[in-house]
Amino acid sequence: MKGGNWTRVVSGCVAVLAASGGIAQVAPPTPSTPANTAHPSEWPGQTSPVPRDPAIEAKIDRLLAAMSLEQKVGQVVQGDIASITPEDVRRYHLGSVFNGGNSDPHGQYNAPAKDWLALADAFWDASTTDDPKLPRIPAIWGIDAVHGHSNIVGATLFPHNIGLGAMRDPDLMRKIGEVTAVEMRVTGIDWTFAPTIAVVRDDRWGRTYEGFGEVPEIAASYAGPLVEGLQGKVGGKDWLRGPHVIATAKHFLGDGGTHNGRDQGDAQVGETQLRDLFAPPYEAALKAGVQSVMVSFSSWNGRKMTGNDSLLTGVVKQRWGFDGFLVGDWNAHGQVEGCTNTDCPQAINAGLDIYMAPDSWKGIWESTLREVKSGAIPMSRLDDAVRRVLRVKFRAGIFDAVKPSARPYAGRYELLGSPEHRAVARQAVRESLVLLKNAGSLLPLKPGARILVAGDGADNVAKQAGGWTLSWQGTGTTPADFPNATSIWQGIRETVQTAGGTATLSPDGSFAAKPDAAIVVFGENPYAEFQGDRSDVAFDDPADTLATMKRLKAAGVPVVAVFLSGRPLWTNPWLNAADAFVAAWLPGSEGGGVADVLFGKAEFRGKLPFSWPKRSDQTPLNVGDGGYDPLFPYGFGLTTKDRGELPALPEVRASGGGDAHTLFTAGKATNGRRLLLGTGDALATNPGPELIAQRPADRVAQEDSVRITWTGRGAATAALVGDPVDLTREANGDVALIVTLRVANGPASAVTLGGRDVTTRLRALAQSHEWGDVAVPLRCFTGTDLARVTRPFVMSTAGALDVTVSQVRLGSPTAGLVDCR
Ligand code: BGC
Ligand code: BGC
Repeated sequence: MKGGNWTRVVSGCVAVLAASGGIAQVAPPTPSTPANTAHPSEWPGQTSPVPRDPAIEAKIDRLLAAMSLEQKVGQVVQGDIASITPEDVRRYHLGSVFNGGNSDPHGQYNAPAKDWLALADAFWDASTTDDPKLPRIPAIWGIDAVHGHSNIVGATLFPHNIGLGAMRDPDLMRKIGEVTAVEMRVTGIDWTFAPTIAVVRDDRWGRTYEGFGEVPEIAASYAGPLVEGLQGKVGGKDWLRGPHVIATAKHFLGDGGTHNGRDQGDAQVGETQLRDLFAPPYEAALKAGVQSVMVSFSSWNGRKMTGNDSLLTGVVKQRWGFDGFLVGDWNAHGQVEGCTNTDCPQAINAGLDIYMAPDSWKGIWESTLREVKSGAIPMSRLDDAVRRVLRVKFRAGIFDAVKPSARPYAGRYELLGSPEHRAVARQAVRESLVLLKNAGSLLPLKPGARILVAGDGADNVAKQAGGWTLSWQGTGTTPADFPNATSIWQGIRETVQTAGGTATLSPDGSFAAKPDAAIVVFGENPYAEFQGDRSDVAFDDPADTLATMKRLKAAGVPVVAVFLSGRPLWTNPWLNAADAFVAAWLPGSEGGGVADVLFGKAEFRGKLPFSWPKRSDQTPLNVGDGGYDPLFPYGFGLTTKDRGELPALPEVRASGGGDAHTLFTAGKATNGRRLLLGTGDALATNPGPELIAQRPADRVAQEDSVRITWTGRGAATAALVGDPVDLTREANGDVALIVTLRVANGPASAVTLGGRDVTTRLRALAQSHEWGDVAVPLRCFTGTDLARVTRPFVMSTAGALDVTVSQVRLGSPTAGLVDCR
């Protein structure tokens, strides 16, 4: 426990040490404030390590006196480069821009680095040439450089935070920060939305891999060195400039505490727990001088963080003395009680300093201007927010800086994925691998042996890199997008060939000559944020690797399993089928680091940063909880010197389906839904063939799809019907209902999907005779209460239409988008 004498609040009762020395339970005094209002005086105090520079403050005073109101408002609003142009930045005097995970120069996910630099110049130019009568205030650009500068082709990709947590190596974190910052500078970007210092309590959460661990100790020990690696040391001459950038501690507070692991959900904990579990990494980041803090999307006991003045102003600014700025998350202000994406005085009044308003920036700019004029937002609050933004810009040398492409490191593209940088990432990979089983001391393997390499993850950089890699979800890329990366297979091949052995790649595990051992690389496919939310913690095995492993075992080949995942998962059948099992997390671009350890060039040293479940429904599962009964505890990790036997584990999965975003697959509706047909509300499985009918159909496997035929004799509907689900989170962004289908006949007249007209898209698919997607963003759904959706898929037409549907899901569309903008 940290210093200070706090009253310990235990489940609603105050536990006090009675005179007898025992523990007495006394009823708490009736709380004068609800359980979602913080009491800052009960939080440890802190002072900013950054001395206030009177010269800077004086400059800010002068600027504030000279700035127009419009210009001030511009400093507290940022737009996404997908929805804002340099001209907009000039006209609205915006203080910053950013790019979300799917936003890239001219919309090209793999735009070359030079295009990023050119765009950085364009925004900077616009911001410095707005109105000659007004003070000149250059804009800055924020990006999610969350595991290296991971939006950029060729950048060094570090393991995601979960793997870094396994290393327990704060010194290496400093180097990782330094490398990331330099690579950002190559593309002219000066601000990263990292590090994520979430303490993740429920591994169903799709962002589990963005956290360093399930208890605060790892994040608290990493936050300082990582922030210093990114920003430089407070007081150093290169602080926030030169090879360094501005860092962001995110997402404040309790993002990893969301109930049931639901993204953007609710942390249902008392104030003591909120403080003791989730705050220590922030205290460390602030001590290291972090200049920006991102406020979480999520709530604390039902109240959105983005509107919680007791936390934002009371704790962060007043109690902790933070004098940088608080940035919001993606339209998170729109979720605050009483707010919309384009209007939310509550957020700035609570202490937010910059609205992250991707596509809503103009509306928020206009409403903020109006509300400052009307007094709904006090002028003093706006001035304070602007002062904070300007203070960070002064500290970072932004006012004296030349355009981004003329700054140190800019345009030195050879630094992206340079050998020195990759060596740091490779070391991180080596240190992050956790050995869970090593029966018969199979590992280390002899590099001179005959090695078979199998599994869909073996030669797949995108899979080993995970989400937040070139695209938001980390999907839709090709191998050519990773010029400076080594797949795990390539790393193994190099090691084995150098030692005179033979290595063969065989994804399905088949072989002609019997190998001495097989390495099977498999795991979760990439995802980000809520798209990775699950209802259990079982591994779904998208490529049926278990069958491959069993075949190898049956043939007498020893099997090493290399498991790629963003979280610990129930993997008992795979643990049983393998002789050795390595949790490799999401290692990034340096597959060679895996070979280094498998073949004994380095010893295993990774320790679990999260408890590993014994059952698929065992969540939350955290060290220190009552009844803690993991398969492998927090901190577990073998070396090859340890006895690595593991008894056979039970193989029955204790829970149903896990992926909440697939609605129809393998010929069936999921999660208790049914595919029903008919007119209006009178729906049935097969109401009669006059209007509409369904029957199983084959795409790849027998009956893995459904054929739906509209006769054209009247209007009819096909719908997936089930219990209400809340899709408001999914609708905040570009998530679409995606239907993969083939059109055999029609459409003879207009067809709607989720109320949107999709006729043109269906006609195009009918012409092509190919399988394809029809995608309608959820925000386009008309006439639907997104908080209670019982029919996520509704397709209707009055004309003849014959389609075969193989999949319906919610996700990021890659093709067939029918937008409503
Ligand atoms: C995420 C943040 C991220 C932001 C910008 C949000 O959805 O929660 O972590 O920084 O998008 O991409
Ligand atoms: C994410 C962004 C992402 C966007 C895509 C948001 O929810 O936070 O980072 O780029 O969706 O539209």
